[in-house]
Formats: sequence, structure tokens, C-alpha cells
Amino acid sequence: MHHFHYNSGELYCEEVPLSLLSKKIGSPFYVYSTATMERHVRVIREAFSGKDVLIAYSVKANSNLAVLKTLARNDCGADVVSSGELQRALKAGIPAKKIVFSGVGKTKAEIQHALNAGIWQFNVESLEELNALSNVAESMGVTAPVALRVNPDVAAGAHPNISTGKAGDKFGVAWNEAAHFYDKIQELPNVESIGIDVHIGSQIGELPPMRTAFQKTIELALQLRSKGHQITRIDFGGGLGIPYESSDEPASPALYANLIKDLVGDLDFEVIIEPGRVIVGNAGVLVSQIIYTKETHDQTFLILDSGLNDLIRPSLYGAHHEIIPLVDPVNSGVVKTYDIVGPICESTDKFATNRKMHSIESGEYLAIMSAGAYGAVLSSQYNSRPLIPEVLVKGKKYSVVRQRPSFEQMIELEGIPTWLT
Ligand code: LLP
Repeated sequence: MHHFHYNSGELYCEEVPLSLLSKKIGSPFYVYSTATMERHVRVIREAFSGKDVLIAYSVKANSNLAVLKTLARNDCGADVVSSGELQRALKAGIPAKKIVFSGVGKTKAEIQHALNAGIWQFNVESLEELNALSNVAESMGVTAPVALRVNPDVAAGAHPNISTGKAGDKFGVAWNEAAHFYDKIQELPNVESIGIDVHIGSQIGELPPMRTAFQKTIELALQLRSKGHQITRIDFGGGLGIPYESSDEPASPALYANLIKDLVGDLDFEVIIEPGRVIVGNAGVLVSQIIYTKETHDQTFLILDSGLNDLIRPSLYGAHHEIIPLVDPVNSGVVKTYDIVGPICESTDKFATNRKMHSIESGEYLAIMSAGAYGAVLSSQYNSRPLIPEVLVKGKKYSVVRQRPSFEQMIELEGIPTWLT
């Protein structure tokens, strides 16, 4: 469910016509809908009704400060994986006590930063990391709250590039070593066990893999408790999928929440979840103009002014994104088959292959849908193309929440060595 819809033949984000934004801001740009993000948070919270849940929004999905501030206002916490994300979350007003720090490679400087901020939980993934955490905490005279991220050896069923819970993946601690890790936590002076964490992947449409992983994790948590380890929280990670095309029917937040509520039952565990995509994915689109059309003997290309540097998901994961014109094509023109590509010098710079659409011309605009998660955050300046603006809409209002940099801004951190001057 999202707030992008045609109204009198024009595509709107909430009450703002996207054609207005393309005139004011220039193409390409990302646009996000506040109402959609707020709705998704509300739906998740309502689905958990009766059970307290910390919605630690996974900042990596979309880390724009205005997005984070919107989510902070809606009582979200944050799941961060770097000092940069931590700073963004704090700057957006997310309280440290609602922030969990995930990731396999936290540096000592990052650990120190997070301890200074007083975050809620470190999701630890290796023995060396645990030792580093204890050492840094000791040097600061504090104790670090730890949840061990366990690897339940469960195939998430999602794209292999975004599955993280199988033995052999770099994520989490091997299942049969978990108990030993908790003994280690007890031995070390400046870390304390407070919970357990699991995350098996992203864009997961079916619940059974989650059920298996969550059930195993809860059983392990109970075993650890019976051995005297303090496990007051279970962090179930993120991963819930969204519909990218109309035929997709991923499990709903309600089914997902019911699964967790059923499994946790009246066991006394606080619940943390780390949703990213399900909150922001369908809340954003990438608007792009067709620069040229190009006909070959058996193909018609639409060449856009945005490329894989702006949205890499199709090239990286073969991801499908719906692509629709800003002007409602209903009953207009014949349906044609297009390859929709960007201007980047890479053959994988393709948003869609053999896509059927109403006939469209150069100069017209398209919206690449469901681009709010892992879109702008994964963009680059490849081919020296400046990062594109991001716009936040709320009702009739809009604001450019990231400007398009000038050429000078794009190169301002580069320097010429003296021997070349
Ligand atoms: N927690 C952890 C520890 C994670 O690694 C992730 C995502 C999440 C939470 C949030 O997962 P979500 O609810 O958004 O599925 N770039 C890929 C997705 C990478 C996901 C990485 N980790 C894509 O565009 O599909």
C-alpha cells in the first residue's frame, strides 16, 4: 500500500503532482511519501498490539535525515551498522536507548562512539569483536550490553545475495558455538549478556524460514536462560518482503507479527525487530526522463537520464521494479515492448528487459516504483554523475531533503598533488 496514484491523468505523490516536482527540481530525483512511511509503521505497531515491540528501523535501507526524523517522530528506534548511521540516527532525534548496533565489522572507534552515546544493544558476531568490545568498554569504565547474533543455518528463500542465515555466510555466530560465546561473555569483565539476535536475510516473502529460525532462537534463548545467562530480549532482525510487482504477495506484517507473538507467547522476552524495506520500500519512487528512444532491428530502447549509479538493484540482484509514466497512459497509444536502460557505460545498466508499456516518447517522464529502500543509499557518482536529489512529500507540501550537488561540490574533496601543479 502506498500513496502514489493517478489523479486526473497525472501521477501524484500524496497531493503533489510529480510533474510539478520534475519542473521545479529537474530530473532525475527520488521522492518519498511521508504518509506511506507513517502508515507502514502504524500497521506494524498495530500488528504487534498486546506485545511491546521496539521497531528499530534499519537505517541502511534509507538513511536520509528527513526520513529518519519522520520515523523518530513515529517512535521508531534504529538499527545501525556504522558510526555514520549512528550519528544520523542520533541527529534525527532517535534516543540512544532505542538504538541497536549490528554488523560484522564494527571498529574500535565505532564501538567507542556507540558506548559514549549509550546505545541499547550491541549485536555481536565474533569472538574478536566481543573481546574488542570488552576492551574498549573497560578503557571507558563502562559495561556493554550484548546480544549475540546467531546463525541458525536456515535458508531464507530470498535472493542469494541477500540471504544471511545459512552456515557458511559471514553473518552471525555458528549455531553450535553460541552457548560457548555466552560463557565467554560471563567471563569478560566489561560486557554483559542481555539478549540474542537473529537475521536471516531480506525481501523474504514466505514465513516458514523465519518460523524455523525464530523457533530455534527462542529455544536457544531458553536453554541459555536455564544455564543462568541473562536473556531478556530477542532481536528478530528485519527481512520482511514487499510487493515489487502486482503478482507478488509477500506475507503481511500482520502474519509476521502473529508469528512472533505466537512463538514468544507469554515467555518473558522483550521483542526487537529491525525492519527496513517494509517501512520505506514502497514509500519512494525514482523519477527519470526519457532522453532518447532507440530502435534496433528487434528491440526498442528507452534511454533514461538515470542509471545504475542511481538505482543499482536491477543490475545487482536482477530486481524487478514497476515502471510507469507520469502521465496516465490509460487508453492511449499501443502497447509496445521496451528495454529500459540508463546512460552508464555498462551492459548491466538496465532497469527492465522486454517490458510491455503503452507507447511513450523521448522527453516524457517515468516513475521507477518501490525505490525507497536500498535506492539512494546504494547510489554512487560512477561516470561522474552527481548524486540525485531526494524530495520528501507530506500532503500538499514538499521539501528537497537532499540537494543535487554542483560539479564543484562533487569534486571538492579531490586534490592535485604539488608535482602536477
Ligand atoms: N537487520 C540486519 C542485520 C540487516 O542486515 C538488514 C538488511 C536489516 C535488518 C533490514 O532488512 P530489511 O527489513 O530491509 O529486509 N541491498 C539489498 C538488501 C540488503 C539487506 C541488507 N541487510 C536490496 O536492495 O535488496
